[in-house]
Amino acid sequence: MDAVRPRWLDHTRSSPWLDRVAVLLRPRLTVGYVLCSLVALYVLYCYIVWSPLFASKLPGYTGPHEVGAIDVEVPVQLPRRINDTTFLKNGEPAFQLDTVLFTLYYPAVKGARSYKARHRWFPKPISLIAEGYATAAHFNNAFSRSLFTLALWGLAGSIDIPAKVDVPLLQPSEKDSESDQFPIIVMSHGDVSSRTDYTAYCGELASRGIVVAAIEHRDGSCPGSVVHLPNGTRNVVLFRADQLRTETSETGLSNDDWRFQKLAYRDAEIEETIYVLQNLNRGEGDLVFTKNHRHEGSELKAWKKRLDLSHVVIAGHSFGATGAMQALKSANKTSSGNSNFVNPAIGGIILDPGKESGRLNTDIDVPLLIVHSDSWSKARTIFYGRPHFDTVRDIAKDVLVRIGRTWFMTSLKTSHPSITDAPLIEPLLLSWTTGATINVKEGLREYVRVSTEYLAFLKDGSRKGVLEIGVTHASYGNDTRTDEQKKRIDKDIMKYWEVHVAPPMPHFATDEKA
Ligand SMILES: *[C@@H]1O[C@H](CO)[C@@H](O)[C@H](O)[C@H]1NC(C)=O
Ligand SMILES: *[C@@H]1O[C@H](CO)[C@@H](O)[C@H](O)[C@H]1NC(C)=O
Ligand SMILES: *[C@@H]1O[C@H](CO)[C@@H](O)[C@H](O)[C@H]1NC(C)=O
Ligand SMILES: *[C@@H]1O[C@H](CO)[C@@H](O)[C@H](O)[C@H]1NC(C)=O
Repeated sequence: MDAVRPRWLDHTRSSPWLDRVAVLLRPRLTVGYVLCSLVALYVLYCYIVWSPLFASKLPGYTGPHEVGAIDVEVPVQLPRRINDTTFLKNGEPAFQLDTVLFTLYYPAVKGARSYKARHRWFPKPISLIAEGYATAAHFNNAFSRSLFTLALWGLAGSIDIPAKVDVPLLQPSEKDSESDQFPIIVMSHGDVSSRTDYTAYCGELASRGIVVAAIEHRDGSCPGSVVHLPNGTRNVVLFRADQLRTETSETGLSNDDWRFQKLAYRDAEIEETIYVLQNLNRGEGDLVFTKNHRHEGSELKAWKKRLDLSHVVIAGHSFGATGAMQALKSANKTSSGNSNFVNPAIGGIILDPGKESGRLNTDIDVPLLIVHSDSWSKARTIFYGRPHFDTVRDIAKDVLVRIGRTWFMTSLKTSHPSITDAPLIEPLLLSWTTGATINVKEGLREYVRVSTEYLAFLKDGSRKGVLEIGVTHASYGNDTRTDEQKKRIDKDIMKYWEVHVAPPMPHFATDEKA
């Protein structure tokens, strides 16, 4: 038997040092040993498949088209201060608007080659983003900044967005005139988020023939963002109300004033984004490319007359949903205050409207699709003296009565971040901390499905899937379906949805059997 043992395991001949190593390496079934081996194997696996530690890669998109991505950062029409509020520390203006930054996700020519590197999920510099997170955590010093930088880098620093950068827009096909012009979604992110937080949702929509402009807001809610000026750059790092100062008040800025100013800033950014899209559609893509500080979009001149500006939807998540509702105030109105901007939006996709981001605008004259995640509906939050859920439901009902179309529903088993990329990248972490029980991709697929169904509805009035089943639950968890609904509604839809506000279920001819 001894003959088959490797020499270094031969106790009779080895030195005490080799002896100890041998004992260490000999497989043992202690918990520590098993754990260490698993970690070592995992690190090795990540290294071999070139995947970031602990994090999954972002999956490719599942729609019929390939997806392109272009970063656009161009000067606004007129650089301006949205409010005179300044920073306590240096007196610089907090709400200076110089450029607007967004990523375009769009259906791309099949098989096009990109000569540019994919966009990083954490755009550089990571240390700037780390500083923002540190501020959000009230823990901003040199030590915490390096710690956050290291953590972000380790968690997701090498993840990139699986869209091809700067490839040509999908060609119009002669056969199918529908694909000549693409509908548009302008996407607004939540607090402590950025333009790269919803790339899976945006990319999935693009792969289904929708052009999405995902804005990065420089209102102090993005962890860290770089503004390009003619003579250099300016870093905007996340900031809080207590870091600001205003002329009009001795006591500093109240939280409500702060949110009001951030929303005004976001409103202006949404307006500027739509203005750039209008320019692209007018055939000014070359000019946009020349002005673009991110040096992408060499093919933008081919976007002339390819955007359907009569089919614009403003979407947002969390604080971004509050902002989207705010931005819709000027939609479908003949005059919008003193600005000469005519808001072309014909609808809004409102995902988890904010619970702590100020009052929700109720003055909306276009149909809405409001989707709550399960945890957003389930948690009873008091919002300006009433349950948040009831406030949202009443807004939806009011728009439904006035405009005749609008939905409010809950996506079952999801949680607040389910629409973001975070659970795709850190599935375990997120389901542990937020309680989402749905399969991550399944949850996202339902969000994408209802969004595309809503866009189709806005275009031609067709009601499909969850949009055609009427109200199933008057309030969260309260099944109020009629017998007809119980008979007719597909179980696959009821598995994912509760509908709280909707136009009535359309009536089918009695002889039509499913
Ligand atoms: C750039 O120019 C603006 C005025 O146009 C000035 O306020 C700012 O300080 C300048 N920045 C740098 C980095 O020189
Ligand atoms: C600045 O914000 C305050 C609220 O905080 C508002 O009353 C004021 O009108 C704003 N100023 C401008 C120029 O919009
Ligand atoms: C605009 O509002 C009117 C009612 O105020 C409504 O009838 C119409 O459908 C709305 N248009 C759109 C595009 O939503
Ligand atoms: C369920 O909804 C119905 C209709 O709105 C209402 O009358 C009833 O009180 C609700 N039940 C619960 C338990 O909330």
